[in-house]
Amino acid sequence: MSKVIVTGGCGYIGSHTCIALLSQGYEVVVFDDLSNASKESIDRIEKITEKRPELYRVDLKDKNAAIAAFETHKDAMAVIHFAAYKAVKESVEQPLQYYENNLFSLINTLIALQKFGINNFIFSSSATVYGIPKTCPVTEKSPVSTAFSPYGNTKKIAEEILEDCTHSNAEFSIISLRYFNPIGAHKSGKIGELPNGIPNNLMPYITQTAAGIREQLMVFGNDYPTKDGTAIRDYIHVMDLAEAHVVAVDRLIHQKQENNFEIYNLGTGIGYSVLEVIKAFETQNNLALNYKITDRRKGDVPVVFASTELASQTLGWSAKRDLNSMVKSAWNWEKNYRNENS
Ligand code: WQD
Repeated sequence: MSKVIVTGGCGYIGSHTCIALLSQGYEVVVFDDLSNASKESIDRIEKITEKRPELYRVDLKDKNAAIAAFETHKDAMAVIHFAAYKAVKESVEQPLQYYENNLFSLINTLIALQKFGINNFIFSSSATVYGIPKTCPVTEKSPVSTAFSPYGNTKKIAEEILEDCTHSNAEFSIISLRYFNPIGAHKSGKIGELPNGIPNNLMPYITQTAAGIREQLMVFGNDYPTKDGTAIRDYIHVMDLAEAHVVAVDRLIHQKQENNFEIYNLGTGIGYSVLEVIKAFETQNNLALNYKITDRRKGDVPVVFASTELASQTLGWSAKRDLNSMVKSAWNWEKNYRNENS
């Protein structure tokens, strides 16, 4: 059985990716420092898949610890690297923590992979590297612009580091996956997004408002040049995203790559406004959400959605789940989690 190391595998996208990997027969080892996620994710993954990934607690910012961790699993066929801080606003307030954590963890991981000859690497990138796109849909050839936040800049710099590594080591095969807006939860309702503190992102704020944890959702601006004035994003079901990572692992392990540094957008190609997401959430879950329109949020992009052509033609992957499935699964998880913890 091919072993895959998933760094940050206790996090939202990482844990869902572990489920997709285990369901496809991969052996999964999770590296996580548990700074931003709980080891409870491992129990949830086991409940869903009846297989328990090994959890290796490690702070990848610590070079010696990172090397020791990878040495323990140097027979891994591939590594998926999720381990990073990801809150845009927090990165503006604490840039050095973001550069230190996100870049040192990546660099130490790459040093370890080179040392042990683990040549297949998948990087968790973000559509945020496109900044305010000149045109939509955004393709992988769209210009990568000045990052909107230190968080976004760490993703941009990381991709530059990765490209340099593939130039110096032809054996190294890398796929960078640029996520648009991951939302939703596994259909079992046994795992999902669990942000620390007040959610920055739309969907967890919606579900926590519906659950009564938050008083009211603020809709950040309705004066954008869009059909209803609210900003447009390409929301993608987290399980579609997870399954795309399995396709990427398979591509690397079976050496199907056309070149050793590939970049793919992971979106649905469909843009929805904030009000459309709210409407879908209310209709699918048969409830009324308490929200009000407020000012725009600084740094928000008016409209961004993906071209999915490259992923579909080259990876043979496209998102299958629609917005209704995303908003239903998000609420299903929130309700289950609140019941578990009431
Ligand atoms: C979506 C839309 C907000 C909250 C960021 C990062 C990206 C990725 C996903 C990590 C926007 C509006 C939001 C709220 C609102 N992060 N909104 N009220 O900003 O598109 O992307 O998170 O990988 O890299 O850039 O996502 O969910 O924060 O916002 O009206 O309480 O919802 O203005 O239009 P975003 P988001």
